Amino acid sequence: MPTPPIIAPSLLSADFARLGEEVRAIEAAGADWLHLDVMDGRFVPNISFGPGVIGALRPHTALPFDVHLMIAPADPHLEAFREAGADWISVHPEAGPHLHRTLRRIRELGARAGVVLNPGTPAEVVDNVLDELDLVLVMSVNPGFGGQSFIEGQLRKVSRIRRMLDGAGRSEVVLQVDGGVNADTARRCVEAGATALVAGSAAFRGGPDRYRDNIAALRSAPERAAA
Ligand code: DX5
Ligand code: ZN
Repeated sequence: MPTPPIIAPSLLSADFARLGEEVRAIEAAGADWLHLDVMDGRFVPNISFGPGVIGALRPHTALPFDVHLMIAPADPHLEAFREAGADWISVHPEAGPHLHRTLRRIRELGARAGVVLNPGTPAEVVDNVLDELDLVLVMSVNPGFGGQSFIEGQLRKVSRIRRMLDGAGRSEVVLQVDGGVNADTARRCVEAGATALVAGSAAFRGGPDRYRDNIAALRSAPERAAA
């Protein structure tokens, strides 16, 4: 039986007027992590929310908080996100000049550290920071918005990073894919070696009554991959 992927619904697709309820509903529906997309209107064209909202949600759920920082610079804010309750903090290499130092700082703060690769960012970035990493996130859309279409070519990058991690004896590093993930693309991500999937629209589609089925469809991807 293949290991099911970690399913991390992205809060970006939730109803922002009812965030506490949405988080409780997605947890009850079987989510593994909560993915939190932080956007600054500068590194990416959109603005979402910051540590204040994340901290306010912390008492509403026991789900691990998987914080995806689309902000530049990120370094001055790492502590605030950790204090707000982030368990995983992921940064883009383009957000600052010292990726290695940033990843070390995240771990010093007691969180797990991740690096995020935009569609145009080469897989090789990972190689030089492999010892400082707990997670690699491959973007399968250009970051900034939910509801975009999956960029197929990024599956090659997922396979490449899977080989890189296994070859370096770091198979336990979480390999996550984010953007345009639905039941169909989820299966191909898992086939390529992903172990965690972010889903915004595919997780929150249809309202709270649908969340359980939405998550189950994403999680059963590897069973269909093996069939
Ligand atoms: C995009 C974000 C994603 C987004 C995914 O910048 O990083 O996490 O919310 O949304 P969907 O799954 O709708 O593409
Ligand atoms: Zn994200």
